[in-house]
Amino acid sequence: MTPVRIGLLGLGTVGGGTLELLARNGDEIARRAGRPLQVTHAAVRNPDRPRGAHAAHVERLTDPFELVHHPDIDIVAELIGGLEPARELVLAAIGAGKHVVTANKALIAHHGNEIFDAARRAGVAVGFEAAVAGGIPIIKTLREGLAGNRIDGLAGIINGTANYILTQMRDAGLDFATALADAQRLGYAEADPSFDIDGVDAAHKLAILASIAFGMPLCFDQVQVHGIRNLSAVDVDYAGQLGYRLKLLGIARRSPAGVQLRVHPTLLPQRHLLAQVDGVINAVLVDSDALGQSLYYGAGAGAGPTASAVVADLVDIARALTIDPEHRVPYLAFHHDHLQALPVLPDDAVESAFYLRLTALDQPGVLADVTRILGDLGISIEAILQKEPAPGASHVAVILLTHTVRERALRDAIARIEALPSIDGSVVSLHLDHLEH
Ligand code: HSE
Repeated sequence: MTPVRIGLLGLGTVGGGTLELLARNGDEIARRAGRPLQVTHAAVRNPDRPRGAHAAHVERLTDPFELVHHPDIDIVAELIGGLEPARELVLAAIGAGKHVVTANKALIAHHGNEIFDAARRAGVAVGFEAAVAGGIPIIKTLREGLAGNRIDGLAGIINGTANYILTQMRDAGLDFATALADAQRLGYAEADPSFDIDGVDAAHKLAILASIAFGMPLCFDQVQVHGIRNLSAVDVDYAGQLGYRLKLLGIARRSPAGVQLRVHPTLLPQRHLLAQVDGVINAVLVDSDALGQSLYYGAGAGAGPTASAVVADLVDIARALTIDPEHRVPYLAFHHDHLQALPVLPDDAVESAFYLRLTALDQPGVLADVTRILGDLGISIEAILQKEPAPGASHVAVILLTHTVRERALRDAIARIEALPSIDGSVVSLHLDHLEH
């Protein structure tokens, strides 16, 4: 059987992992795909750097544009990351009639609509399983496994670095900066770690998941994003005392009014399965009408897991090469003509429960003032925890958990509470979610 010929853009961690996996499981992969998959070319910056035995038969090119136009390549795998030149290279590959596989979440989140339009016109496939949650086949699950369901929402731990940091803050009592330094030392963080800790990487992945779940064009710019940079160790600790764990969640939910797309630190009940996902592991919880809740768990990064997703896409494309493009699995799960630009709800229209931490003067009547403000705005309290004042201190920490409330009402309440003379500084607020169907 003639092999499917693959050109790799980049031969770093993921490219090397892909080569290794194709070599190790080559026979089984060929039996699955119906044809062998062979990496014939790789574009690399430094062609002389040793790349291991699996790269021995791969022709190295220094010009990536030569690779994307190469007549002897069927599929281009973009594994360099970043927006440019990745976008230009992917569009050039599509223009040259190549199928594309990419692990690039930022690229799909920002330019997916343009890339899928170009690919549809050219009749080529674009696989991006590796862009979300590394090796977990969540794109395939949403696009194919759950194709009979109406998907109502999903919530995911989709940034391993942030999850590692939060786990270390909780288990080892580290502060944020020390936990981040650890994550960087272990090589977990993105080249620009602000993408991990400010929630941008999770927002890229959430935008992709939401489009596939709800059949809407990609709208990364409308995701509300709050990262973990300003989280205090005390809030991780108080959350634990109240029976909750803090996780950076990406949440997509739809209602008749529109779609919520949010990334923020969230308190989850300790016993919830997602609250048990620790370290660099990723997990996505999906709410769908026929199946109910289902949970997908696994490694969200690393050479092997990411290569697992890249190779799965390569096999899919090899299998589909003979199928008329109109009948292949659609890029965003729904046929192009049936995507709907659903309204994305603004911040203040979102409903959520909240954790509030205030620093209050330790004197009679202060809590009454606070609860009156909440009551006047229709905000109901689920739990209150007041800490002992430190010896000699005049102020105490008060933690309140609210029932579900409109975010706008909560912001009003916070402004009024902060204006009380008995309250010191700002009120810390964090989302709280039971993730019930
Ligand atoms: N920096 C990402 C993470 C890598 O921490 O999850 C995988 O996208």
